[in-house]
Amino acid sequence: MFSFATTLTLGAIVANGLILHPGYDQVASDQYNLLKFMTGAGPFVEHSGFGVPLETPPHCEIEQAQLFMRHGERYPTESTGEKFNNLYKKLKNANVTNYKGPLAFVEDLEYFVPDTNNYELETTKGMYSGLLHAFKFGTYLRERYDSLVNTSEVLPIFAASQDRVVETARFFGRGFFGLDYDDSCSIQVINETDTSRGANTLTTKSNCPTFNDSLYDYSFGDEIFQREADRLNELSPGFNITADDISTMGAYCAYETNVKGQSNFCDAVSREAFIAFQYDNDVTKFYQFGPGYNMSAVAGGVYANATAKLLQEDGKLWFSFSHDNDLLNYITALGLITDTELGTEDVDFHRSFKTSELVPQGARLIVEKLNCSDTSFVRTILNDKVYPVPGCSSGPGYSCPLEDFLDIITPEIDYASACELPDDAPKEIKFYWDWKPTFEAN
Ligand SMILES: *[C@@H]1O[C@H](CO)[C@@H](O)[C@H](O)[C@H]1NC(C)=O
Ligand SMILES: *[C@@H]1O[C@H](CO)[C@@H](O)[C@H](O)[C@H]1NC(C)=O
Ligand SMILES: *[C@@H]1O[C@H](CO)[C@@H](O)[C@H](O)[C@H]1NC(C)=O
Ligand SMILES: *[C@@H]1O[C@H](CO)[C@@H](O)[C@H](O)[C@H]1NC(C)=O
Ligand SMILES: *[C@@H]1O[C@H](CO)[C@@H](O)[C@H](O)[C@H]1NC(C)=O
Ligand SMILES: *[C@@H]1O[C@H](CO)[C@@H](O)[C@H](O)[C@H]1NC(C)=O
Ligand SMILES: *[C@@H]1O[C@H](CO)[C@@H](O)[C@H](O)[C@H]1NC(C)=O
Ligand SMILES: *[C@@H]1O[C@H](CO)[C@@H](O)[C@H](O)[C@H]1NC(C)=O
Repeated sequence: MFSFATTLTLGAIVANGLILHPGYDQVASDQYNLLKFMTGAGPFVEHSGFGVPLETPPHCEIEQAQLFMRHGERYPTESTGEKFNNLYKKLKNANVTNYKGPLAFVEDLEYFVPDTNNYELETTKGMYSGLLHAFKFGTYLRERYDSLVNTSEVLPIFAASQDRVVETARFFGRGFFGLDYDDSCSIQVINETDTSRGANTLTTKSNCPTFNDSLYDYSFGDEIFQREADRLNELSPGFNITADDISTMGAYCAYETNVKGQSNFCDAVSREAFIAFQYDNDVTKFYQFGPGYNMSAVAGGVYANATAKLLQEDGKLWFSFSHDNDLLNYITALGLITDTELGTEDVDFHRSFKTSELVPQGARLIVEKLNCSDTSFVRTILNDKVYPVPGCSSGPGYSCPLEDFLDIITPEIDYASACELPDDAPKEIKFYWDWKPTFEAN
């Protein structure tokens, strides 16, 4: 006979479904998360990770953290928005008498950016508000790095000058500093269109005259997109969907989700097409801003160089905000990508270079310096998951010994000469060292 206590315990187990539901998940559902197929255009999603706990390893303490972050969820740019609006008008103007199939929703569809003043900007409302996201991330980092904050000192936050980047930095700062924001946080805007800044910028590729992001010419996915167009035309006749429309729908899905929290296009387009959509973007970015282009590590090498310098100094917290492609340059320069090429015959399913994993909206890379029993190590945390440095993970918590990390990230090629900078242009980042506290009026 069960004792009363045993009966209660069993009752609790049954109520929680634990008899049928094991303690360890046997379902690999993460692979189906559509955010992993939105090419970095859609809402933030954590890196899939490698199972390394985020907690600081035993006998270690965090001594320094350097954050490099992309702006948060945003509206489409003007040019992309125009593409979406053209697709929208095409669908609405189609001679369709019987709305059915995956595109039946078009009957009630309304364009998701009615006010075109919102193009380029951060999203401010709803589930995937970019500003809320930045604020929350600020509160999270404050908790993680509270012991590194000296409340009697002003801390700078560096932001490339585009509105959405600066707004992300401000909201991150409001989350991180809370009520002390006005007095403790100094936003340092780094002009991204002033090429005379040379290397002294958070957008080094734009100041590098020899950096050309349209050298690589290829096409991937045409057949898959045509197959998808045929499928939609069969199930939802009358719209005359083309292969090009499929890519536009994939991106539409991502941006409408940023703005409204969901999009019917995400359900209309098949997963087969989304896989090709993601891969097409990966190949492009790999050869434009990743390891597939030899100038990527040169542009990113400027940040890597600054990272190396800061790691050897006493400063505790460094926050920088910029764009996805600059973050890709930086990730490349730090040696965090292992792929050396991506083919265009078939989808390379086994690659690690996936833009949705690396640079979704709100993407962030943190370089943490650890002091473990008086020895220094470095861990990199990519999109909130420990991302061990390839070839260097022998330390506590799979960290990399500081000296080894410095060897890995020290750029071999000099930015100033590879970019053919004018003699008077700055040849490295200076703003981390020569910033002056300035405060913004509210
Ligand atoms: C629209 O489609 C219907 C049915 O296919 C056809 O009868 C009609 O002529 C079309 N109208 C136009 C303007 O093309
Ligand atoms: C905090 O900053 C103040 C002002 O610069 C300085 O005097 C103090 O030593 C700092 N405290 C710590 C713990 O570093
Ligand atoms: C940024 O630099 C550009 C080009 O030099 C200049 O026109 C613009 O006024 C600068 N912006 C600010 C806010 O200083
Ligand atoms: C970049 O490369 C493309 C393709 O080779 C070429 O057409 C273009 O002129 C180049 N741009 C610059 C600024 O060199
Ligand atoms: C379908 O679209 C293609 C490409 O835009 C165009 O050439 C063709 O005339 C269209 N067909 C119909 C039936 O509207
Ligand atoms: C990059 O590759 C091109 C073409 O192979 C070469 O001409 C150039 O010198 C290389 N640049 C660097 C910085 O390695
Ligand atoms: C990195 O810094 C060193 C020394 O400060 C400098 O000589 C080198 O040119 C820098 N490289 C880049 C890519 O900025
Ligand atoms: C590491 O931490 C210990 C204990 O807090 C301290 O004594 C030591 O100076 C630190 N070492 C380094 C390299 O910062």
